[in-house]
Amino acid sequence: MKSLFDKVKDIVEKELSSSAHDLDHTFRVLQNAKLIARRMKGVDVEVLELSVLLHDIARMKEDEDKTGSIDHALLGAEIAANILRSFNYPEKKIEVIVDSIRSHRFRADRKPKYIEGRILFDADKLDAIGAVGIARAYMIAGQMGEKLYMPIEDLDKYEKENLVNGKATGRIKDISKHSVNIEYETKFKKIPERLFTEEAKQIAKERLHFMEVYFDRLEKEVKGDV
Ligand SMILES: [Fe+2]
Ligand SMILES: [Fe+2]
Repeated sequence: MKSLFDKVKDIVEKELSSSAHDLDHTFRVLQNAKLIARRMKGVDVEVLELSVLLHDIARMKEDEDKTGSIDHALLGAEIAANILRSFNYPEKKIEVIVDSIRSHRFRADRKPKYIEGRILFDADKLDAIGAVGIARAYMIAGQMGEKLYMPIEDLDKYEKENLVNGKATGRIKDISKHSVNIEYETKFKKIPERLFTEEAKQIAKERLHFMEVYFDRLEKEVKGDV
């Protein structure tokens, strides 16, 4: 007999199969979540694992939506609830999973109410930093046609002019003025202060240190210093 986790996993795999990148992301987030939860008390591991597994289930629907009105966190929470109800999963636990998925988004102002939601948020953000974060950022930059490197002489000016409402978590106005090293300065560096759990903050600090070394080196090579 398959476990509930495996049954839900089959559904998620089908939903995200044409986008291997997102499925791999989901499983890395699962590892991060386990790493964070290891030393924490009072975590419902089953609820956490199901929240992680289902958190980006509507990602492709948002990406394919031309109107820009789909929020994969809100839609994903609804889809997740329907899937879990079809397995007669307890309503009380579904409520926690729904809240966690609704509030996992960096840009949204919804804060997770439950510990499992805070861990999901943190685990998801950890996948945006460190060596994995650099690789993911360049994959996206390649798709968007961004430059390999942009000088960061006038970062304040950039933040005022090129970020909607001056927020690093908002949309970028002109992609031709954007690059991963700028994204590092304006967004990735700020991730630790947005995290909820001490465990994730520790991991984030270590991963950011690696990024700092990398972007220092990149600047030196681009400028011909090494
Ligand atoms: Fe997401
Ligand atoms: Fe995610």
